[in-house]
Amino acid sequence: MTHTPHPPSSDSAPADRVALITGANIGIGRVTALALARAGYQVVIAGRSLARTQPVLDEIKALAPAKPAVFLPLNLASLASVGECAQQFIALNLPLHLLVNNAGIAGLRGLTTDGFEMMFGVNHMGHFLLTQLLLPQLQASAPSRVVTVSSRAHKRTPGIDWDALRQPTRSITSVREYAVSKLANLLFSAELARRLQGTQVSCYALHPGVVDTEIWRALPHWARPLLRLRGLLTAEEGARTTLHCALHAPHTESGLYYADCKPVRPSALGQDPDLARVLWERSEAWIAGR
Ligand SMILES: NC(=O)c1ccc[n+]([C@@H]2O[C@H](COP(=O)([O-])OP(=O)(O)OC[C@H]3O[C@@H](n4cnc5c(N)ncnc54)[C@H](OP(=O)(O)O)[C@@H]3O)[C@@H](O)[C@H]2O)c1
Repeated sequence: MTHTPHPPSSDSAPADRVALITGANIGIGRVTALALARAGYQVVIAGRSLARTQPVLDEIKALAPAKPAVFLPLNLASLASVGECAQQFIALNLPLHLLVNNAGIAGLRGLTTDGFEMMFGVNHMGHFLLTQLLLPQLQASAPSRVVTVSSRAHKRTPGIDWDALRQPTRSITSVREYAVSKLANLLFSAELARRLQGTQVSCYALHPGVVDTEIWRALPHWARPLLRLRGLLTAEEGARTTLHCALHAPHTESGLYYADCKPVRPSALGQDPDLARVLWERSEAWIAGR
């Protein structure tokens, strides 16, 4: 797969810019966090384990000693944890120029603490609440950006079964539930862009490519070599579209969906403003009742 060569440039991030990224201890998030630090951002990493994130914090300290990264505990499977993470960020009294909703799971089954289907709860609901709670910071720091890592897999669902979102993962492969969670990422980003029109907070959703990361850990061992045969990207290649949206995509392209560092057309469902509005209103009602 080819990508538009568009490395992040150091002049794209003035010295005082701050980025918060979820799930950056490994995979695409780790590469993104390192590149943002290299581009001059003060990086805040929100994730489940300080111990597992420490190697990335050390790497950032080595390449930007004046701006060590900050770690905040965050478990996206718990809305209480999301709330605490946002409060801890606000207590840092930093601006927020870039929020990267990167963390994600595939193939993990069951229910989150708050009773959402596991992938929908972690991939969509956790990020929905985090973004809502940090919107005042993003708006006060505008021009700013919200980048949400979706997936081409959003095309693999015929719709959203609203009842299934409050039940444990049902499909045998869990592909359908993953697809719904990634469709939700996409619809969320488009609806957020509509709601933030005129505020100079821009929103981008993206497909990173099919990337050799731990996201595939739930796959049976025999399936991994098959994936590799299909030509998996490295994590460095997989981070390029996130970095393009974070650093280079024009503000006029807010609300669009990217792949290979350029806007692409999502599925018909992914472009449906009514579906996006209903998802937004339901998500809002769910977080209000948390
Ligand atoms: N890899 C691909 O081919 C591909 C394709 C399309 C889209 N994506 C998307 O790309 C994003 C990054 O995935 P990746 O491929 O880099 O996967 P990865 O290597 O598995 O990394 C996922 C990250 O999410 C974190 N995470 C998982 N559950 C979490 C939770 N409950 N709370 C907070 N953080 C949590 C993980 O932290 P822990 O170490 O604590 O688990 C890890 O840092 C995801 O949104 C994924 O859906 C990936």
